[in-house]
Amino acid sequence: MSLNQKIDHFSGKRIWIIGASSGIGHATAHAFLKLGAKVALSSRRLDSLKEIQSHFSPESSLVISCDVLNESSLKDAYGTIKNAWGELDLLLYVAGVYEPLRADEFDLDKAKNIIATNVIGPMSACSVVLPDLIRQKHGGIGIVSSVAGYSGLPKALAYGPSKAAMINFCENLYYDLAPLGVNVYMINPGFVATEATAKNDFHMPALITSDAAAKHIIDGMMAGDFDIHFPRQFSLFLKFLRILPYPIYFFLLKKFVKI
Ligand SMILES: NC(=O)c1ccc[n+]([C@@H]2O[C@H](COP(=O)([O-])OP(=O)(O)OC[C@H]3O[C@@H](n4cnc5c(N)ncnc54)[C@H](OP(=O)(O)O)[C@@H]3O)[C@@H](O)[C@H]2O)c1
Repeated sequence: MSLNQKIDHFSGKRIWIIGASSGIGHATAHAFLKLGAKVALSSRRLDSLKEIQSHFSPESSLVISCDVLNESSLKDAYGTIKNAWGELDLLLYVAGVYEPLRADEFDLDKAKNIIATNVIGPMSACSVVLPDLIRQKHGGIGIVSSVAGYSGLPKALAYGPSKAAMINFCENLYYDLAPLGVNVYMINPGFVATEATAKNDFHMPALITSDAAAKHIIDGMMAGDFDIHFPRQFSLFLKFLRILPYPIYFFLLKKFVKI
């Protein structure tokens, strides 16, 4: 059963991607532009955003510098989009930071940056667009969280909690927005080869490309899915692990995760 309204095309849809300069956001921006959407490309690295823009007709995209740690920068960016396009059909928040952290090397400054970017950032972005989406009674919000938010995993002492918070946030948003006709997409990728995961010094099971991740995201939205998780074999396995009793869960984690 689809929890959101299905989407049969993205042609002419006005989409704001925050975190479009690399990885999953970059690939998804390309994919949406290829489908004829109008995409506002945001993040801090303008060169990379302009590089995406250069592949498509100039009127199909906007390049808007934005730092998610700065609320007024998000408000200004949204103001620019509204001036140019009037309305927004989809906010896709992809921006995020990942730092491996364990208890014996816990760094509070790194943890604060992760929470600010991965939790306060999407909440700030939503606070900027929510009043209009609620008034419009159409459109949607997609937030890229992670399967790392399903349950506690090694080396994710701040990243894991940040993603768990976003899963809960999306569930809350869905409850409030679905009756108003606004779609909510909770997007939980497994391992995707990007700048963020290039620093991992361990084997990443079921690793996929950012282009494959973009396809999963767009296919999930078109199908009207709320819970967009991929690659399926890996994400379903982690969903299964989290419902196990803790003694079994921690036993399996210790046995199979050697990091
Ligand atoms: N790769 C994976 O295996 C994986 C798995 C599950 C979930 N995810 C999630 O997917 C999302 C994208 O990750 P990725 O792997 O594609 O990483 P990435 O290549 O490092 O991209 C991260 C993006 O976030 C933006 N960003 C970071 N801090 C920002 C800030 N303060 N203001 C504005 N933009 C900011 C970056 O842009 P600028 O640096 O230009 O600002 C960049 O566009 C993240 O939320 C990540 O947690 C990734």
